[in-house]
This record gives sequence, C-alpha cells and structure tokens, in this order.
Amino acid sequence: MTPCRVVVGVTGASGAGISLRIVERLAEMKSVEIHLVLSQSARRTVLHEEGAQAMGRMLSLASVNHAVDDIGAAIASGSFPTKGMIVAPCSMRTLTAIATGFSDNLLTRAADVHLKERRKLVLMTRETPLHLIHLRNMCTVTEAGAIVMPPVPAFYNRPQRVFDIVDQLAARAIDQLGIAPAPQAPIWQPHMEKAR
Ligand SMILES: Cc1cc2nc3c(=O)[nH]c(=O)nc-3n(C[C@H](O)[C@H](O)[C@H](O)COP(=O)(O)O)c2cc1C
Repeated sequence: MTPCRVVVGVTGASGAGISLRIVERLAEMKSVEIHLVLSQSARRTVLHEEGAQAMGRMLSLASVNHAVDDIGAAIASGSFPTKGMIVAPCSMRTLTAIATGFSDNLLTRAADVHLKERRKLVLMTRETPLHLIHLRNMCTVTEAGAIVMPPVPAFYNRPQRVFDIVDQLAARAIDQLGIAPAPQAPIWQPHMEKAR
C-alpha cells in the first residue's frame, strides 16, 4: 500500500512556529510520512523565531529531510505519490514563484508538481499589508487549484496562549488535506456561544 505522504515546505516568512506545530501534529499521526523541505531563508527565520532546539526538533520529526537545492529528490516528480503539500509559512517570494511556475528550487518544484498532478496544495501565505501583486498571485494560484490559507487566527475558540493560536492554525491546515479520520481543529458548536 502507498504510504500517506505529506510534503511540508517551510519558507522565510514569519511564523516558523506554525510549521513546527504542523510537523509535530503530522508526526503524532503515526501513519504519515513527512517530507520536509526548508528554503535557505526558512533556516534563518526558524532559528530567529524559534531557536536552534526547535529547528532540531522539526528536522528530527520529519521522515525525510530534503535539501532545497536537490531538484532530483523524489518529491520533484509527479510519479511519487503524495496526499498533498502544505507550505507554512509561505513567503511572497515563494508565492510568486509558484504563481508563475518558476520552479527554481525543490520547494517550488514540489508545489508545481502538486498543482500539475491536481493534488492538494495549501499555502499559508504570510505578509501584511498586501499589495496588488500579492493579491493577484493569490488569485492565480487559486485558479490553478491551490488553497490560499493565510495564518489568520480564530478568536471564537477563545485562545489563551500564542500556542493555542498556532495549534489551531496548524490543525486547520492539516484538515485541508483530508488525511485524518476526524477533523484536527475543534469544531464550532452553537452551544459554545452560550457557554459564558
Ligand atoms: C525575520 C524575517 C521575517 C520575514 N517575514 C516575511 C514575511 O512575513 N513574509 C514574506 O513574504 N517575507 C518575509 N521575510 C523575507 C523573506 O525571508 C525573503 O523574501 C526571502 O527571500 C524568502 O525566500 P523563500 O521564499 O525562498 O523562503 C522575512 C525575513 C526575515 C529575516
């Protein structure tokens, strides 16, 4: 049987903690094979925002760590079956590369493969404010089949800590792939509104 493979791409946008939590959650789902690829800039932002220990943890939880310049890696080919790819966080540079089909490294190539194979591609695009080119690129990738999912926190679940926000974002991104037997993120229940 083909393993349940998920590609996680991490870029140099702010929000490295989200990618760490996505990898942690996927690692908890024992049957998932995690293919991790970090851009050069991601290595810098992960270290800056989360530290060396978190970086080590993320790399150690992955089933396969791919070098971003290894364009001959398995995930560079559509013949390698996967359940989908999450780019978290997704920089405007990587968004632009994906929107234009400019597969200049393994991360953007893997994203391109997911689009051409009509597989799930979730882009947690992170920048603010957005100019017209950012918005147009988001439209373009949406038209090509990607799911644009900026890391916008939900507050209806009354998060108490930054971790709660990060965890909910990670869970919602994984839910987009439809690989878990049940949704990872808490489901809104109307009675929650009356709880306080
Ligand atoms: C601390 C830090 C935070 C950054 N945050 C963002 C961001 O939120 N969004 C973004 O598009 N770029 C951000 N950048 C800039 C990107 O890292 C830069 O454009 C880089 O070329 C992206 O390359 P990549 O897409 O290959 O990772 C940030 C850079 C640094 C150093």
